[in-house]
Amino acid sequence: MTSKRNILVTSALPYANGPIHLGHLVEYIQTDIWARFQRLRDNSCYYVCADDAHGTPIMLRARQDGITPEELIAATQKEHEADFADFLIDFDNYYSTHSDENRDFASSIYLKLREQGHIRTQTIKQAYDPEAEMFLPDRFIKGTCPKCGADDQYGDNCEVCGATYDPTELKNPVSAVSGATPIEKDSEQYFFKLSDFTEMLQQWLKAGHVQSEVANKLDEWFEEGLKDWDISRNAPYWGFEIPDAPGKYFYVWMDAPMGYMASFKNLCDKQNINFDDYWAADSKNELYHFIGKDIARFHTLFWPAVLDGAGYRKPTAVFCHGFLTVNGQKMSKSRGTFIKARTYLDNLNPEYLRYYYTAKLSSGVDDIDLNLEDFMQRVNSDLVGKVVNIASRCAGFITKKFDNQLSAELPEPELYNDIVAAGEQIAEHYENREYNKAVREIMAQADKANVYIDENKPWVLIKEEGREDEVQKICTQGLNMFRLLMTYLKPILPATAEKSEAFLNTEFKWSNISQPLLSHEINKFKPLLTRIEKEQIEAMTHDSIENAASTENMPAAEEKITGPLADDPIADEISFDDFAKIDLRIARIVKAEHVEGADKLLQLTLDLDGQTRNVFAGIKSAYKPEDLEGKLTVMVANLAPRKMRFGLSEGMVLAAGPGGKDLFILNPDEGAAAGMKVK
Ligand code: MSP
Ligand code: ZN
Repeated sequence: MTSKRNILVTSALPYANGPIHLGHLVEYIQTDIWARFQRLRDNSCYYVCADDAHGTPIMLRARQDGITPEELIAATQKEHEADFADFLIDFDNYYSTHSDENRDFASSIYLKLREQGHIRTQTIKQAYDPEAEMFLPDRFIKGTCPKCGADDQYGDNCEVCGATYDPTELKNPVSAVSGATPIEKDSEQYFFKLSDFTEMLQQWLKAGHVQSEVANKLDEWFEEGLKDWDISRNAPYWGFEIPDAPGKYFYVWMDAPMGYMASFKNLCDKQNINFDDYWAADSKNELYHFIGKDIARFHTLFWPAVLDGAGYRKPTAVFCHGFLTVNGQKMSKSRGTFIKARTYLDNLNPEYLRYYYTAKLSSGVDDIDLNLEDFMQRVNSDLVGKVVNIASRCAGFITKKFDNQLSAELPEPELYNDIVAAGEQIAEHYENREYNKAVREIMAQADKANVYIDENKPWVLIKEEGREDEVQKICTQGLNMFRLLMTYLKPILPATAEKSEAFLNTEFKWSNISQPLLSHEINKFKPLLTRIEKEQIEAMTHDSIENAASTENMPAAEEKITGPLADDPIADEISFDDFAKIDLRIARIVKAEHVEGADKLLQLTLDLDGQTRNVFAGIKSAYKPEDLEGKLTVMVANLAPRKMRFGLSEGMVLAAGPGGKDLFILNPDEGAAAGMKVK
């Protein structure tokens, strides 16, 4: 028996200015399953996280909403915590980077780094908004792409051609804050001398603390030579002030990873855990960070260097995952595949998604695809058709015919032992984050169990005279196999496992799987999981389109980080032939009405050259129904009709504008005639 491990795991801290979406959940589900698996194997595993509550985007968002940053981050944190709880993410602590603990870590770590000579200052030129009187992060400068000429591009990269550049190269730059033309201004900044840690980092990366794909990618940075890192920002900034540097604040990425320590410290104080056992330089306990590939650089270069420089331990490993695509493409607001956690929860059971992600996740950094059709089929056939089915086929006989009693022996102990033996391989897959392999193995065992029941047909035997004992044994065998499968699935399906534990009147533990439940009383079987219906998926997509119509575009992050960013949807390019298939026409809005129960939709009756069409449009934020009647709109006339929750939608109307109150439909006096073809 190996001795119990002491483990601390973290997921990246989500920004406190936006909702949790299905992309984020890849990570929280991946981490949660790993933590639950460790606990199920009798290891000690703490899982902590927090909201990442600092930075310019949060400051500006609060300003825009007319509230204080404190109010904004408190409200967002509440939403995040509710979303995570409903997705069964079992944090030991969920905290905020805007906390006293984190303030202490930020200053004490900074002071240690300074003492060791790892901090220097330098005067640099930066973009400054003379109207808003603030320095501008790259993402808050917009202008024309120097490479392809596309308008309205961010200061650090072009969404159209993918070029990356310096904000000073942008043509016609304007501040996204005030619209003013930015000027260049000198100011003194504080730098962390990352280059001091080059050798240490190279050693550390070679020693297997990161995946090989990530290590290879990092080699490129070493070739260029590690650059010192600007860790300060000028006021006005939302964050912690730097000690002995009035008007200078820690850059959000400086104090964000310290949020892992702060959240854990907060837990230690509540539960009497020894903080140093986990963070001291000589700690023997294990520390793992789960992150997305877009933030690898922060976690595998800056963070280990900061920890090292300040005299703390470095992570045992950083586990990087890929990005989520939906139906094979980047999440897109217009396609309804930018799905918020809450929108999903309003329509579907969280365990379905937990299962589907698990079935697709590997230990690599490849992107994973949520194909909604496949999602439905996979969940229905695996979970409902294979696993739950075993219990529902055996339970009734035990309850009705045998007074809830399982038999005293198993008719096929070998088959049972076979499935027990598969447990070691399954555990190894979990441990290595090869979740897709774990699921494949569990389902192979479920197949064996189903074959057994199919061959032994208790529902036939029960009708034959004198074969009751056999039926009891077959069902006992079936339920014991179900118990093994549910034990293996417990990290993925905690709620269904709990219901199954109540039903089988036992707690599922990995350590006692070899012992079957015999001569044991069980409880009445209640349905565990139901099938996904197509309508639920459609309703979720529909709600997502509706939501998107009312979201504004503001950069969520201060810095564009390498790799895909999930929240800026650009559809894949289409050919001219694809475009020619779209029949765009001008239609007259003859009637516009509110839709009962929809926050963002209006129901439009359109006149298309004598033909009448019923269309639902997400433009309620911009128009009162009475103001729309008589106006013209461009519509996609040959879009296949779609059944929505509120009725059939026969086309789609196009409106222009940034969203919210600014969405524009054509005015009749603009000269367009109803029914005219647009192209
Ligand atoms: N606040 C920083 C992390 C600081 S950690 C000290 C941040 N926040 S985030 O909200 O943008 O992202 C949180 C985590 O979710 C990151 O690990 C990120 O990679 C992950 N994901 C965000 N969108 C994602 C997808 N579309 N797909 C998979 N993971 C994604 O970065
Ligand atoms: Zn471009």
